[in-house]
Amino acid sequence: MSANQDLQKRRDDAFARGLGNQLPVYIERARNAEMWDVEGRRYVDFGSGIAVLNTGHLHPKVQAAVAKQLDAFSHTCLMVTPYAVAVELAEKLNKLAPGPSPKKAIFVTTGAEAVENCIKIARAHTGRSGVIAFGGGFHGRTFMAMALTGKVAPYKAAFGPFPAEVYHAPFPIAYHGVSIQDSLDALEHIFKYDIEPARVAAIIIEPVMGEGGFYIAPPEFLQALRKLCDQHGIVLVVDEIQTGFARTGRMFALEHSGVEPDLMTMAKSLAGGFPLAAVVGKAHIMDAPGPGGLGGTYAGSPIACAAGLAVLEVIEQENLCDRAKVIGETMVAALRDAAKGIPAIGDVRNLGAMVAIELVKNRDPHAPDPDLTKALVKRAAEKGLVILSCGLYANVIRFLVPLTASDAIVREGLGIVVECLRELTGSVKAAVNA
Ligand SMILES: Cc1ncc(COP(=O)(O)O)c(C=O)c1O
Repeated sequence: MSANQDLQKRRDDAFARGLGNQLPVYIERARNAEMWDVEGRRYVDFGSGIAVLNTGHLHPKVQAAVAKQLDAFSHTCLMVTPYAVAVELAEKLNKLAPGPSPKKAIFVTTGAEAVENCIKIARAHTGRSGVIAFGGGFHGRTFMAMALTGKVAPYKAAFGPFPAEVYHAPFPIAYHGVSIQDSLDALEHIFKYDIEPARVAAIIIEPVMGEGGFYIAPPEFLQALRKLCDQHGIVLVVDEIQTGFARTGRMFALEHSGVEPDLMTMAKSLAGGFPLAAVVGKAHIMDAPGPGGLGGTYAGSPIACAAGLAVLEVIEQENLCDRAKVIGETMVAALRDAAKGIPAIGDVRNLGAMVAIELVKNRDPHAPDPDLTKALVKRAAEKGLVILSCGLYANVIRFLVPLTASDAIVREGLGIVVECLRELTGSVKAAVNA
């Protein structure tokens, strides 16, 4: 039995089956966009630990900042005896958040917690209870986050009942025939059929659906949502957990639309691999809950805050927003070129370096191919590339290349994707001109 197989067996015996596992690959060491497993095999990482490593594995600046903080102290609890790194990071995030209004922040530990806290804050501010989210969206695995998530299997199946007064509207996806107007009409229907707007506390949306399939909310739709929320006094919550920190070519994806959110979530790439999440929002809304209503024992860990400060420095010094655009353009050009000879690639889309291909049968958007998607993830790993699948129909490959990856690594990974797709579909040879 190989070292990976041995660990896989022990894993299966030790963990509950509900804890998913994409690959039987056990990592021993990782740097930037590369990982090595316990058998010494090298992998190119196009998944970034699910969007956490925009600055790569163990960026030297992040590593140094964490080492320095570890030398000082690791925990006091931000709610007991606070510390400067947390204050400094909150100040920076308040400045970076889109829009001109004065902002305030809170730190929590996970993305789901950030989502939960947005709803708490929105309810405290408005005195209302209803929340509207979007079909196919993903907001986390805790109870309110799960209720907001618009995908039953595997996230909600067997776990109900969920918190009341959560409604879903369709996300506008032109590729699947859902227009902006369709989505806006559906919101009006919710106001007619289910709940009056005066009782809706918040509308929550991902500017690019992450787990749901990398569908990009059109700027006009986000602008229309802003208008609708202003009209009815509803808090607009934007979930930037997967889209934030230069991934889409801007610090936050919402900047592409010019919309200012009332509240936004941040997590994942915020702290380069250390557990940290935040809610940042308009100061008067953030201040609605009373002292002690928000927080958590590990919320704003000094180690994670030190990492977060280093991440922000790296994004700026290494121009990672620009780099995201270049990586996105390179990948989309190569994948569109490959798609000419591979009919299974139904769509290639991106916002910056948030890049996806949708795999279908015979170029039919309504004939998803989840089996091919699964096979591609497996075959790519056998050839030394880690990629992630996603999508309401499990037929989308999402590429989350560390923004610090070299051109050579990007080309190498793309080459493996195209080679695997050709092999698996028996398609004609398609060149990768990345
Ligand atoms: C958009 C979005 N919101 C919320 C979450 C939940 O974050 P976490 O897994 O840190 O709780 C995720 C995680 O994938 C996400 O992509």
